[in-house]
Amino acid sequence: MNENEAMSEQSDAMPADAARQVRQHLDSLRAAGVMWLPSQPLAVESATVAETTVQSSPIPAIGEPVSSNGVEKRRSELLVLAERIASCQRCTELVVSRSRTVFGVGPLDPELCFVGEAPGATEDQRGEPFVGEAGQLLDRIIAACGMKREEVYICNICKCRPPGNRVPTTQEAGNCREYLERQLELVRPRFLCALGACAAQNLLGTTEGIGKLRGRFHDFKGIPVLCTYHPAYLLPGRSPQKKREVWDDMKRLLERMGRPIPGR
Ligand code: URA
Ligand code: URA
Repeated sequence: MNENEAMSEQSDAMPADAARQVRQHLDSLRAAGVMWLPSQPLAVESATVAETTVQSSPIPAIGEPVSSNGVEKRRSELLVLAERIASCQRCTELVVSRSRTVFGVGPLDPELCFVGEAPGATEDQRGEPFVGEAGQLLDRIIAACGMKREEVYICNICKCRPPGNRVPTTQEAGNCREYLERQLELVRPRFLCALGACAAQNLLGTTEGIGKLRGRFHDFKGIPVLCTYHPAYLLPGRSPQKKREVWDDMKRLLERMGRPIPGR
């Protein structure tokens, strides 16, 4: 059966809109790192785990730690969370405007996690945060800090792209709050860096401006948070002269993290 036949067979059984939603859902999961899905609903599977462990206990791959501080459990819970978010219907406007949800990328237990505002057009297409123009600048900031993108965790306050890239409303950020809190609880970053006013204010629960919040450390559930300007704000035509302040902020962060400051 070729792909077209497969698709038309599928649409016999499923309305086109439902098929599109399923495809977007799977795309979101793939972008969040989900490589397989159980053949039965997760809740059912976990209820039957106890009876099946004897026959099917997974054998760790060679070189893979058997258990390191619940990493495997946290990783699988993170996938369950990503799956739940991919079908979230809490914000009526965003459910319509998004192509897919954008969960987050990066390793568990990172030294550093960047928190942005919400996906833009490119992120909404690709399902990964900070992969558009602002993302390329973030990549350069990460490199200037002597780190690699792959070693930090990156996520957003809101997991859906707002129409026309408007700032997420307080209600939308509130709807997504539970997801962000759970995500950070499972990822366990040592330090947080909030990018821009929306991320800083929502993370810290304040209305203070980013100009006041930046350059110093705050606290999120025991994790030190440094706030700085959003990379999109530093792009040509906006305020590229603020790069100097962002670099000052990053140096403060590196110092507190106990990392070397490149070029010093
Ligand atoms: N801006 C953000 O705040 N987040 C992204 O993922 C992309 C752009
Ligand atoms: N406004 C924002 O929302 N973020 C910035 O970084 C600067 C201005």
